[in-house]
Formats: sequence, structure tokens, C-alpha cells
Amino acid sequence: MKHQYLPAKVKLGNEDFDFQHEMLFFVVEGIVDYTKGRGESGDIDPIFRIFHDYIDMYFKHEEDRMRELNYPDIDKHISEHGTFEIRVLDLERAFMTAPDRASKVAIARTVLDYLYDWMETHFVRTDKEFCDYMAAREH
Ligand SMILES: [Fe+2]
Repeated sequence: MKHQYLPAKVKLGNEDFDFQHEMLFFVVEGIVDYTKGRGESGDIDPIFRIFHDYIDMYFKHEEDRMRELNYPDIDKHISEHGTFEIRVLDLERAFMTAPDRASKVAIARTVLDYLYDWMETHFVRTDKEFCDYMAAREH
């Protein structure tokens, strides 16, 4: 799989990671559409569900792998996942209770900024460090 929707700068070359990262990139696309007026607020509901899946499935999967491999930086990595989860759930609550479209769009833009930041920090630094550790263990 080429992961054609994933920007080259965040590709790690690891099939598992690139697959889950691409999932988040679809979320970004959906939110961008909403902020540009191409969707209703109901269109965001499935997007927040993808967030929940991403958190429940992939964070847990990564954390289990880190435990199996006695990854030394596991605490730092899990703490970043925890921060992400809290922030996304806060933004989801704010979005759901926002009184009008303008407020929802403002929150959606905050979500986007946070996700871009997450991609450029957690994907390419924290996840990459773990990918490199796994690759070194396999050889
Ligand atoms: Fe991670």
C-alpha cells in the first residue's frame, strides 16, 4: 500500500504506522471540508468517532508493542498519547455544545491546528523513535 494521501514528510515507511497515520489524515480532510462550508455539523460526528477508534485501537496497539519490547521511552510516549486524548475529547465536547456554525468552525480550526502539530511532532518524532527501536530489535 502506498498511502497516497499521507503527506511525504510524515511517512515513516512502516506499514502499521503509516496505515494508522493515514486514518488521521482522512480526519483532517473531513474537518477541512467542514471549515470550508462543504459540510454540516453532523458530518463531523463520524470524524470524532474515527478519533475514538484511533485512540482506542492504535494507541493501545502501540503501547502493547512497547511493553512487549521493553521500550525504554514508553512513559514519555504514553504520556503524549494521554495528552492527545484529553485535548481531543475537550475539543469534541466544545464542538458538540457550540451554539452556532461560526463557533463550530472556530473549534474545528483549532482541531486542525492541533492535528497538524501532532503529525509534525508525535508522528515524525515520537512514533519514529519507536519505529527505529523496533527496526533495530528486528535485526
Ligand atoms: Fe504514538
